[in-house]
Amino acid sequence: MPIPERETPKGRRESYVLPKVPVPPLKQSLDMYLSSIKHLVKEEQYRKTKSIVEKFGEPGGTGELLQKKLVEKSDNTYNWVYDYWLEDMYLNQRLALPVNSNPAMVFPKQNFTDRKDSLRFAAHLITGVLEYKERIDTRTLPVDFSRGQLAGTPLCMKQYYRLFNTYRLPGLKRDTLVIHKTGSTEQEHIIVACKNQFFVLDLVVKEKKLKEMDILTQLEKIVKMAENTEERQPPIGLLTSDGRTEWAQARDVLIKDSVNRESLAVIEKCLCVVCLDDPSGMEVGDTSRALLMLHGGGHEKMGANRWYDKPMQFVVGEDGVCGTVCEHSPFEGIVLVACTEYLMKFMTGSPSKMGRATSVSELPTPGRLLWETTPHIQGLLKASAGRLQRLVRDLDMDVHKFQVYGKEFIKKQKMSPDAYIQVALQLAFYRCNGRLVSTYESASIRRFHEGRVDNIRSATPEALAFVKAMTDEKASLSDSEKIQRLWDAIKAQTNYTIAAITGMGIDNHLLGLREISRELQMEVPEIFTDETYVASNQFILSTSQVPTTVEMFCCYGPVVPNGYGCCYNPQSDHLLFSVTSFHGSTETCSAVFIRALDEGLVEMRDLCKKSNKPQSNAAALKTVEKSQGAGSKPLSTPRENREISHTEEALRCPY
Ligand code: COA
Repeated sequence: MPIPERETPKGRRESYVLPKVPVPPLKQSLDMYLSSIKHLVKEEQYRKTKSIVEKFGEPGGTGELLQKKLVEKSDNTYNWVYDYWLEDMYLNQRLALPVNSNPAMVFPKQNFTDRKDSLRFAAHLITGVLEYKERIDTRTLPVDFSRGQLAGTPLCMKQYYRLFNTYRLPGLKRDTLVIHKTGSTEQEHIIVACKNQFFVLDLVVKEKKLKEMDILTQLEKIVKMAENTEERQPPIGLLTSDGRTEWAQARDVLIKDSVNRESLAVIEKCLCVVCLDDPSGMEVGDTSRALLMLHGGGHEKMGANRWYDKPMQFVVGEDGVCGTVCEHSPFEGIVLVACTEYLMKFMTGSPSKMGRATSVSELPTPGRLLWETTPHIQGLLKASAGRLQRLVRDLDMDVHKFQVYGKEFIKKQKMSPDAYIQVALQLAFYRCNGRLVSTYESASIRRFHEGRVDNIRSATPEALAFVKAMTDEKASLSDSEKIQRLWDAIKAQTNYTIAAITGMGIDNHLLGLREISRELQMEVPEIFTDETYVASNQFILSTSQVPTTVEMFCCYGPVVPNGYGCCYNPQSDHLLFSVTSFHGSTETCSAVFIRALDEGLVEMRDLCKKSNKPQSNAAALKTVEKSQGAGSKPLSTPRENREISHTEEALRCPY
């Protein structure tokens, strides 16, 4: 039974109890599952799936048995879904991390006067990171509380404690998320990447912590050393950009040599990586900056100046292209935003301490990590470079600022901005493809102990009715019928959101039932081999709201070859969208999707404006309270659920 760490917090001001993630009632999830796919598959396929699902859920059937086992698991663990989810979502995935898995935060373009100016920025950033890390180590980060829907609940902070002390180790079949003890003395260095070389920047020298001035001095030395072509090492970082199995195989070859073993050990324990990038030569716009964050522009640009396994990788480009690239498995984008916003505010709000004296009179020269290669390893590097290049060529990205209105306009309509944007995304997809598809929207379940996310399946039947009203049935429906369908779609979306954030989503539940059947070494139940289930987990539209309060934005790639990745950042007066797809697919085109989105958002505004009788907020909320979710029966709330107890099972958030 995984026991969460129970560390004594220093300076903790908040103390509260977080409930466990509930196990939703079986029938509720099965009903929700059926109604989430009914309108997305052919009638005949639906009939087949329905009978499989009914058989699974019949009294005394496999579903009941698995549900019982899952409830037992929930009783005996702190979070029944955490490991299943982590493995399914990340560690079992074999695709390369850049584009396919690692999201990026793109900072505002910096205007550096010269290389030294960019190094000053990097030194200041590192100082901010160390300050933030200190807050993590001393457990003095303020506790987050939920906002938006069901606001005011304390949220689990565990993800923050995985920002700097984790590492995703590649495995032949499954990766491992290595977690170092927070504040460990092994972790007193960062890795600086420059010209595809990796240097060790020790943060403590002669038992003294480096000051910002010292860090700058060390960075200058690193840049100089990196320029020395005679000592140049092979671009080993490229291997981390490869498929996970390929990288694991290459790593097995690398570690045969003790020099490589040592270099890997140092990287795998670092706090974070700071990539000092040369100018990319690309025109610096939102889209090109986002591309450089996601894949570095390939091996000919900055693609090898990275170590993709490390969760926190800060990029500081001489041309002002800066941001963070993240290995996603230890934390969600929201935690990443909190950390990077802290850093941005630190950078702009606290003056650089360059004027102060150095802490150590003589700083040792930072060590360059050495690599022993063989023709075999050279061949592996070439293959990795080729595969990264294909990924670079394939990624179709468009970052777009919709400036006609922002979330304040939507709020004035008494609608949830997030639900509204999701409905707009459905409309855009329908416009482009004439159908709706299985859609993923991440819903935070941090209100539960060690909660990560579940899925809001946004392609609801009500969304389909609405998008049809705006397209195929446009001419035959009145404005009031259209606005009614918009309201229905928004309500269905809001209801699903509330279900998902209160632990009543279906994706985690079905995953748990599937995985527990594996643990019991049962034959995989038909419900999980059924083509509908398989298709319903191919998220052609993968979406996520990542809002920021300072100027920056998040982006990520599609999760299937014929899909879109759509990250959005709703602001008061505008909405920022970062849309990705693959050129290789004939079914997608990011620019076309953006155009359809723009068009739909304007039409939705016009429709709202025409409606002179918007449903009152109270009425809307009443409907939400009477929510039937996406299923046909009322959802249990977590408080009613037997898995949630605030007494003997209650858990103290361990920080
Ligand atoms: N009328 C007027 N205002 C409304 C409203 C209505 N009917 N419904 C919501 N609002 C307001 C909210 O009060 C909130 O106000 P605020 O900006 O002052 O806080 C704002 O609109 C936003 O609410 P909403 O649009 O409903 O979204 P949300 O903030 O509840 O977010 C999710 C919904 C699903 C995005 C959120 O719950 C979540 O899970 N976020 C995490 C996603 C994530 O993990 N992303 C990263 C993945 S790596």
